[in-house]
Amino acid sequence: MYHTLKFTYLAVLATQIGLGRNCTYDLTSTGNTLITGNCGTCPGTAITGFPPGVCTGTTSAGGTAACLAEDACLSAYNNARAAGPTVALPAADLGGMTLPPGVYTFPTSAGSLTGAVTLDGATNATGQFIFLLATTFEAAAASQILLINGAQACNVYIIVGSSATVGAASALQANILAYTSVAVMNGASNNGVLCALNGAVTLINDALTTQSNCSSL
Ligand SMILES: *[C@@H]1O[C@H](CO)[C@@H](O)[C@H](O)[C@H]1NC(C)=O
Ligand SMILES: *[C@@H]1O[C@H](CO)[C@@H](O)[C@H](O)[C@H]1NC(C)=O
Ligand SMILES: *[C@@H]1O[C@H](CO)[C@@H](O)[C@H](O)[C@H]1NC(C)=O
Repeated sequence: MYHTLKFTYLAVLATQIGLGRNCTYDLTSTGNTLITGNCGTCPGTAITGFPPGVCTGTTSAGGTAACLAEDACLSAYNNARAAGPTVALPAADLGGMTLPPGVYTFPTSAGSLTGAVTLDGATNATGQFIFLLATTFEAAAASQILLINGAQACNVYIIVGSSATVGAASALQANILAYTSVAVMNGASNNGVLCALNGAVTLINDALTTQSNCSSL
């Protein structure tokens, strides 16, 4: 059903696609962010806030590794957009839902998460959870993605048509691939990749852990 693509390189990537754009594409951290994995930007080279932020893997500011990761991110974004069959969610806010693997669309262009969403691997522990948003995704402060019955963070993809915001003290488990930017507020955590294709990744005292052997999309 899905194409194969592995995210093996990046934990956080701010990148740019397309020609003739003059967007900012930076990776910026404030405070004691801890990224367990690799960090990069492409084609921009603006990585600020490290230190005091820590990136345990390699940091590639406009280097080959980051640009290869950009290609992987863009492929994954496009593959996810083409994935199906899609299932229409009953509401624009994921809070309180328990969902099996699937490719989900929202009733409105923007989507959100307030409280917790539970992703249930009972029907397929290696199944993928793909959320397709036409515009923004906003996770409220202290929101959570809970995984049960073998569901894996590396199989969760939030595909954002514009920008994503993750509220303070949230605990998410998802690869968040945004067409524009990703902002993670104070003290949040995530297991998965963050990728901003045309804008910036902005972090504040966050704990981000890449899933180095994420399965395919
Ligand atoms: C982007 O910036 C460069 C250098 O400042 C400029 O030459 C170019 O015209 C700009 N491109 C666009 C599409 O604005
Ligand atoms: C479980 O999901 C994976 C990934 O989408 C897929 O390759 C596999 O066929 C699924 N297994 C079943 C039993 O549906
Ligand atoms: C990832 O690797 C770890 C350690 O090698 C393993 O325990 C885990 O099952 C792997 N996850 C996937 C999704 O392959």
